[in-house]
Amino acid sequence: MGTEILFEPIQIGNVELKNRIAMSPMNMGYTGPEGYASDQSNAWYAARARGGFGLIITECVVANPYPWRGSDSLNPLLCDSQKKYRYLSQMADVIHSYKGAKVFMQLSPGWGRQGHPDMVNEGIASGAPSAIPMEMDIRNMNLGWAKQLKRLGITMLDQLGGVEKLQNLSDEEYEGVKEIVFHYLEKNAPEFFHIVKGHREEGF
Ligand SMILES: Cc1cc2nc3c(=O)[nH]c(=O)nc-3n(C[C@H](O)[C@H](O)[C@H](O)COP(=O)(O)O)c2cc1C
Repeated sequence: MGTEILFEPIQIGNVELKNRIAMSPMNMGYTGPEGYASDQSNAWYAARARGGFGLIITECVVANPYPWRGSDSLNPLLCDSQKKYRYLSQMADVIHSYKGAKVFMQLSPGWGRQGHPDMVNEGIASGAPSAIPMEMDIRNMNLGWAKQLKRLGITMLDQLGGVEKLQNLSDEEYEGVKEIVFHYLEKNAPEFFHIVKGHREEGF
């Protein structure tokens, strides 16, 4: 099969791309302090635009002023205030200036409902694209979450056979204990229950 088609223009909505080669979003960690696009961010995008991409999709840009677990280490670009817009539009100008490359911004409200609300801002839920509750399967909790699992209460955990046993339950077994666990959480650790049930809606 020929590859010529890759170099032909294509229309996406009201945007015409000069070719069909697109760069997927990548956070390179070049963001400046406080979430501003740095000179290094611009240089990185400029080099790709100059290389000939028809479309550049920006790294995930967070449209939310609240940080959550992981957000500090990822240091994402932010689009949370007018102050940032100038830097982002400068970045877009840089990309456009090279051979007509187009840019789409990957915009995120935050880290989704799995983000832990109490890591940085106590009581403020992690931003998510919609208020649809997302129930967590507590067996999927990783080592970091094992600490949270202890909120189940040591007695309760012991009765269930410990964190490891809980994490290794089959689907049928899990269905069996889930209601017991949820009931316990709702009564004794309502904060944790709301996280697991994805019921927190405030925050964004
Ligand atoms: C350094 C790095 C940063 C990334 N950052 C993002 C991101 O911000 N948003 C996103 O949706 N995907 C991100 N990705 C995933 C890529 O967009 C892409 O989906 C992934 O690399 C798989 O594509 P591939 O099979 O062509 O490598 C990142 C990937 C890498 C390697």
